[in-house]
Order: sequence, then structure tokens, then C-alpha cells
Amino acid sequence: MDFFETVRARRSIRRFSDRAVAHEDILAMLEAATLAPSATNEQPWHFIVIRDKELKNSMRDVINAIVEASMAATDDRARKQRLARMRLYSTHFADAPVAIAVLARPWEGPRYSNSSSEPSHRDLGIESVAMATAQLQLAATALGYSCCFSSGPAEFAREELEAMLGVEKPWFLLGIISLGTPSKPPRERPPRKLVEEVCTFIG
Ligand SMILES: Cc1cc2nc3c(=O)[nH]c(=O)nc-3n(C[C@H](O)[C@H](O)[C@H](O)COP(=O)(O)O)c2cc1C
Repeated sequence: MDFFETVRARRSIRRFSDRAVAHEDILAMLEAATLAPSATNEQPWHFIVIRDKELKNSMRDVINAIVEASMAATDDRARKQRLARMRLYSTHFADAPVAIAVLARPWEGPRYSNSSSEPSHRDLGIESVAMATAQLQLAATALGYSCCFSSGPAEFAREELEAMLGVEKPWFLLGIISLGTPSKPPRERPPRKLVEEVCTFIG
């Protein structure tokens, strides 16, 4: 697959077959992630590769409990439905052969500007780790696997999951990548905005 074929083939996949992911393939994906650009080359990323089924299930149970408590606390039907959907969208890592917890830490360099509208140190860390995560997903696709990055687990249960994974400050959990081989062909790609809609040429 050439680069553009890989980019087009990448899809967020949330259901997986039992086929294992080879350890050397995981290492290749992680290497691709570490080659990403980062603010002042700080490389503020860390990846926890989880194959332990019991741990994945415990993480899913924690998220489920928190989402269920939020659902019980609201009478708003639309919110209940959104939460039910997000619960599925936040727990698919448990049934994936591999879950990769993506950690970031705030950028550590000196501030150049006093403006509060500048990106914060935390933003720069997240921007850098987002680039690494994109490269990891493309590498997975190039190697014949599929994955899905989910911020939902961190949104619902950041502190609880960080404690379970032994994450210490200044590191924080950004999300979890579900990784494996799809159990069925992907549905049609969610529509994209046209290039003309999202691009302005000057000069
Ligand atoms: C920052 C970010 C957060 C996301 N969070 C979730 C999530 O919590 N759960 C999920 O199932 N997918 C999540 N996704 C995947 C998106 O839903 C997916 O990329 C989008 O629908 C486009 O589909 P595609 O990746 O197949 O092209 C996330 C993607 C990004 C970039």
C-alpha cells in the first residue's frame, strides 16, 4: 500500500476478530508514532500496551459504572440515549485483542508570550501526542490491522483509569486505541468536507 492508499484505507474500527496482533507489528506501530513531530522535540508521549483481558474488563467495568450513574442521574431521554451510545463508543477496547492507552504530558519549554490566548503547555503536549497517535493508526493500517482512537474513556473515567494503569503526574490519559483485525468490512466512511470547504489559498 502506498502512503495515500494507506490514508484512504484507515477507518475507525470498533469490532474485532480474535486474530492476535504480532508483537513486532505493535513495535513497528509504536516506532511510527515516535517518529512524529512534537513541540521542541519533547516527545511528550507514552503508550501502555494492554493485552491483559482481566485488566481490560476491569477498565470497561469502571467506565460502565460511571456512565450508568450518569444515566440514572438524568431524566432527559436524549441525554440518556447519548450516554448509552457513548458507553459503547468508550468500551470497545475491552473486546479488542490489544488496547493502547495513550498518555501525554504538558510541554515543558519556556513560554514565549504572555498572551493567555496562546496554546497552553497542556495544549502543546496534546497537539504533539495527537500527531504521534495519527502516525500509529496509519502504521496499523499499513500493516493490515485496524484501530480506533477513543477519547471517551478519559472523558468518563480519567482519574480512575489513570490509577488502574499507574499513571503519575504530570502524565495524563488522553484516550485509548482499540487495535486488532476487523470482524467485518467497515461501513461506508462518514462523509468528509470537501477540500474547497476547508481550505483557503492566499496568493
Ligand atoms: C480526538 C478524537 C476522539 C475520538 N473519540 C472517540 C471515542 O470516544 N469513541 C469512538 O468510538 N471513536 C472516537 N473517535 C473516532 C471518530 O469517531 C472517527 O474518527 C470519526 O467518526 C471518523 O471516522 P473514520 O475515523 O472511520 O474516518 C475519536 C477520534 C478522534 C480524532
